[in-house]
Amino acid sequence: MQYAKILGTGSYLPANRVSNDDLARKVDTSDEWITTRTGIKFRHIADDGEKTSDLAVEAARRALADAATDADEIDLIIVATATPDMQFPSTATIVQQKLGIANGCPAFDVQAVCAGFMYALNTADAYIKSGMAEKVLVIGAETFSRIVDWNDRTTCVLFGDGAGAVVLGASEETGIIHGKLKADGNYLGLLNTPGQIANGQICGSPYLTMDGPGVFKFAVKMLAKVAEEVISEAGFTAEQIDWLVPHQANRRIIESTAKHLGLPLEKVILTVQDHGNTSAASIPLALDSGIKNGQIRRGQHLLLEGIGGGFAWGAVLLRY
Ligand code: ACO
Repeated sequence: MQYAKILGTGSYLPANRVSNDDLARKVDTSDEWITTRTGIKFRHIADDGEKTSDLAVEAARRALADAATDADEIDLIIVATATPDMQFPSTATIVQQKLGIANGCPAFDVQAVCAGFMYALNTADAYIKSGMAEKVLVIGAETFSRIVDWNDRTTCVLFGDGAGAVVLGASEETGIIHGKLKADGNYLGLLNTPGQIANGQICGSPYLTMDGPGVFKFAVKMLAKVAEEVISEAGFTAEQIDWLVPHQANRRIIESTAKHLGLPLEKVILTVQDHGNTSAASIPLALDSGIKNGQIRRGQHLLLEGIGGGFAWGAVLLRY
């Protein structure tokens, strides 16, 4: 039995760190409102010249170094993003070119917004388990600052830019144990960025629109359910989970999932205060942060979970 095992992780945040007070100077909001409702204190914003692929490449370089893997050993690249560099080609092919990977390996994007990393990780796991790939670079990278309306206080305070990457390798040792993906397109109206390029114009708003309370209710319910299902289908109990590594959208959503599972907050990786919601990048950013600061150690069991527009959601149980 071949497992997909995490060989190394890396992440990257743009240098520009923006506080709640900085935002309060631009829109009618306050540190107090943002902190109480979301737990967010800071977010990083990409410079004008910095593209999603640039963030992805920096995170990937760090993950490759951490995994002691040469870029040319990678035989599949998957980038989870809802903010690609271009309409086409995929950001994954741009990342392949920027990393100088010349072995012709397949590269594609996965679009499941904030659940993107769950979709990418499950896909990579399937490639490895089926023998179609041995070393996969899985990246979540976003520049959501480009699709939020900076005059809309109900959305702009929530998001940030960043990238996280994982090198997965085929291994006899236990890695990804079980994963599950879900989607329900009936909830499209809760969260979307409708604009599309057509006939030389952007048709529909280019900005993210969201029913905040609606998203909150749906996220809390579905994350608890999928997390529980993944744990029980794997034959585990919540007590065996060493760390919950959740999508970092909102501290209150994270607390609700942890409470539902009976996990104390000491077992939850929390980065939302420093990163804001970085969509597909948030889980690999939190994972890398937990590993690099010594919270997550080899041999521990992690439950990763995320949800986003679509709606799409999922969870993965793995042994690190
Ligand atoms: N600063 C100050 N006041 C604000 C702000 C702001 N940034 N934004 C909204 N308000 C005001 C509203 O205008 C409203 O005022 P009113 O009562 O005078 O009309 C009041 O605050 C309450 O607004 P609500 O939307 O009801 O506030 P709520 O308590 O629901 O919190 C929030 C809003 C934080 C967006 C919450 O609904 C939430 O976290 N939802 C989940 C959204 C999310 O995480 N989206 C990310 C993408 S999806 C994902 O990643 C899972």
